Amino acid sequence: MHGVSYYNGIISIKHVCHMHQPKNYEHLIGLAGFSETLLKNHFTLYQGYVANVNKIAEKAETIEIGSIEYAELKRRFSWEWNGMRLHELYFGNMKKDALAVNGNSELYKKIAESFGSFENWKKDFLATGAMRGIGWVILAYEKEEGRLFNIWVNEHDAGHLAGTTPLLVMDVFEHAFMIDYGLKRADYLNAFWNAIDWKAAEERLTK
Ligand SMILES: [Fe+2]
Repeated sequence: MHGVSYYNGIISIKHVCHMHQPKNYEHLIGLAGFSETLLKNHFTLYQGYVANVNKIAEKAETIEIGSIEYAELKRRFSWEWNGMRLHELYFGNMKKDALAVNGNSELYKKIAESFGSFENWKKDFLATGAMRGIGWVILAYEKEEGRLFNIWVNEHDAGHLAGTTPLLVMDVFEHAFMIDYGLKRADYLNAFWNAIDWKAAEERLTK
């Protein structure tokens, strides 16, 4: 791990060049069902998570192991990290002019195996997204049993299934849709559905 050290068990980045850089998702501007204002606000919010991950990493170099501050920083780190990565997975599984799912893909077959049919899975995924509260919906792959789950994650942290790989990630925080849809969450879910980059999700299953 050249140049990156682990300090107090929290990833510590000693040189600016190793700080996390926010990824650029400007190519999504123009995505059907998502206004430029909403997307730009969302990108800014995501960049805030990246900045906070970097801030915590810097701070980790100055605190005393075992202190109260140390414990709080540990908790905070996971929250900010997940906020960063979940947004990257979310923006990374959307695209303009998205195509429908490939019925011959491994992912499609696994979904049908795990949920009985693709339609059953879709119904469950969207119903999970319609749940009250703020958080994420994740289609996750569990290697040991070779099956898929639709997971609800509260905020960024509560509800992840240990050992699973996120394949498709949907943001259901209010900031993800209220600018465009107000309280019409179902309309946002529909817009997200039409924007899914299935190839990106398929690649996460096979890599
Ligand atoms: Fe978000």
